[in-house]
Parts: sequence; C-alpha cells; structure tokens
Amino acid sequence: MTTVLKTRLPLIQGALAQISTAGLVVAVSKAGGLGVLTTTGLDEDGLAAQIAAVRTQTAAPFAVNLMLQQANIPELLAYLLAHPVPVVTTSAGSPKRFVTQLQAVGTQVVAVIPSVKVAQKMAALGVDALVAEGMESGGHIGTLTTMALVQQVTAAVDVPVFAAGGIYDVAGVRAAEALGAVGVQVGTAFLAAEETPISPAYQQALVAASDTSTVVTGHALGDAVRCLHNPLTDAYFAAEQQGATPEDLHALLDGSLAKAIAGDVTHGTLMAGQIAGRIAKIEPVAAIVQRLYPDER
Ligand SMILES: Cc1cc2nc3c(=O)[nH]c(=O)nc-3n(C[C@H](O)[C@H](O)[C@H](O)COP(=O)(O)O)c2cc1C
Repeated sequence: MTTVLKTRLPLIQGALAQISTAGLVVAVSKAGGLGVLTTTGLDEDGLAAQIAAVRTQTAAPFAVNLMLQQANIPELLAYLLAHPVPVVTTSAGSPKRFVTQLQAVGTQVVAVIPSVKVAQKMAALGVDALVAEGMESGGHIGTLTTMALVQQVTAAVDVPVFAAGGIYDVAGVRAAEALGAVGVQVGTAFLAAEETPISPAYQQALVAASDTSTVVTGHALGDAVRCLHNPLTDAYFAAEQQGATPEDLHALLDGSLAKAIAGDVTHGTLMAGQIAGRIAKIEPVAAIVQRLYPDER
C-alpha cells in the first residue's frame, strides 16, 4: 500500500529493538522501503538525534516505532507531536489515546497486531494500516502463525494489512499478497544486513542457524520472545523447570538483548525468527530488498 506509506515499495523494515538506528533506516528508505527507527532506550534527545540523522541523509519516508510497554512513551509522543514524522508504528499495546493526535499533525499510524480481535479494535480506532505479525517472527510474539493470522485479518477488516513473520524473499511476498496483504514487514532478514549495527558474532549465528534453531522463552512471564537457541536459553528453560520465580527468570533475561548486540552470544538473547535458516550471508540492504521485490527498480 505504497499510497499509505508513500514509499516506492510496500515494504516495512520491522522495528528492531536497540538495533534499527539511523544507518539501517536510511539504507532501507533509500532502497524504496520504509525504514523504522527503534526508540527502545531512547529519551527525547536521543530520538531527536536519530531523526535528525535520518533526515540529513534522505528525504525518503521513514517511521518511528513506539513499543508501548516502554515507560517513557508520553515523553516520546510529545516530541513526535511537536516534530512530526511521516509514520509511527505501534506495538505491544493500544495507541488509542493518541491515534487522532498523530494523524492531526500529518503522521500515519500503523499498528502491529497478533489477532483478529486486536485488528478490529485498531481498525475501529482509525489507524491507517495494520501489520499482522505471526509467531514465526523474531522478538516478542503472539500465538498465531502468519498463514492463519493474515488471511483471517484481511477478511475481517477494511484497513490495508501488511504481513509479518517468516518472510525472506519474493516467495514470501507473493504468499502474503495471496492471503490478502498489501505488503510485508520484514525483521529477521534485515538483521543480516551490512548496515545493521549488531556484533559479527550475532550475525554469524544467524548465518549458521537452521530452520529449527529458534526457541521461545518467556511463556511463564507472559512475554514470549523468539530467539536463537543458545546457552542462555538452555539456562532459562532449566531454571523454569526447577521452579524459578518470575523475578529470577527476569533476572536471567534482563539486558540480554544488549549483550547479544555487543557480541556475547553465550549470555545474550539473539532475537530472530524461524526464517533465519535461510540466511546464508551478510549483505547490503539493497540486496535484501532486491530479493523481496526483484521486478521493481
Ligand atoms: C531483534 C528483533 C527485535 C525486534 N524488536 C521489535 C520492536 O522493538 N518493536 C516491534 O514492534 N517489533 C520488533 N520486532 C519484530 C519485527 O519488527 C518484525 O515484525 C518481525 O521481525 C517480523 O518477522 P520476521 O522476524 O520473521 O521477519 C523485533 C524483531 C527482531 C528480530
């Protein structure tokens, strides 16, 4: 739905917590997709700096992701209302309080959703588009597969729907379109981009991954996260089996994405989706986008 996003391609680079900073966003937006800035760990000044860094390098549309479990959403929202960006994507909560405020300053609102019920709620709020995200995805996930979710969401709402979860190349794009989606959101495939600021160790783990390399932690905490199996996930499941308290489980996982980003693949959470098995090498964003939309120039 390039008319909603005003991008050349109906492609969204999914927000990648602590990772999708200006360099990756600029590369995706320049390649014709919608780059999405993460705001995880950013205050107002940090967000301002990231937006400025994008704007100095491209005039193409980009988005800012608000992961609604973050404590400082009011601060970030106030900034985005005073300094509007083309698109805001929301996840892990309802943007009910601020959809119309953002639209009033010219910002399109795209909500990431895990079920038909939530899709209908967001459609009723008047969001501009939805991302239906299946549980194949990397990071925080729901319970439905992309195959089952996307077709039920597109049948249930009139809002443009982007499909997310398990999409790697043009085959995934065509499958999404066959299910009624107008485009796709891709996360895991972009983790393997040269422009993505994660450690070589994290990227090599993605290259080495197979179809069965991911596991899901956090069920017991009500916060399911898909990531690559590693010594940390072994320790997590062992602790869970031994009846560890939620506090102890949280303590194991706290700060673990940052560790993976910095290169500690033993104690870090290497968030990634099931499609990681297809990643064969690290390559430029432009090559990844080309594989998704080979017929577009
Ligand atoms: C490392 C990582 C971090 C993520 N962080 C976020 C986030 O902060 N906010 C969000 O809305 N989605 C986040 N996601 C989900 C992606 O934006 C995207 O929807 C998902 O990766 C799509 O499925 P795929 O991984 O199969 O491509 C993350 C995914 C990964 C792999």
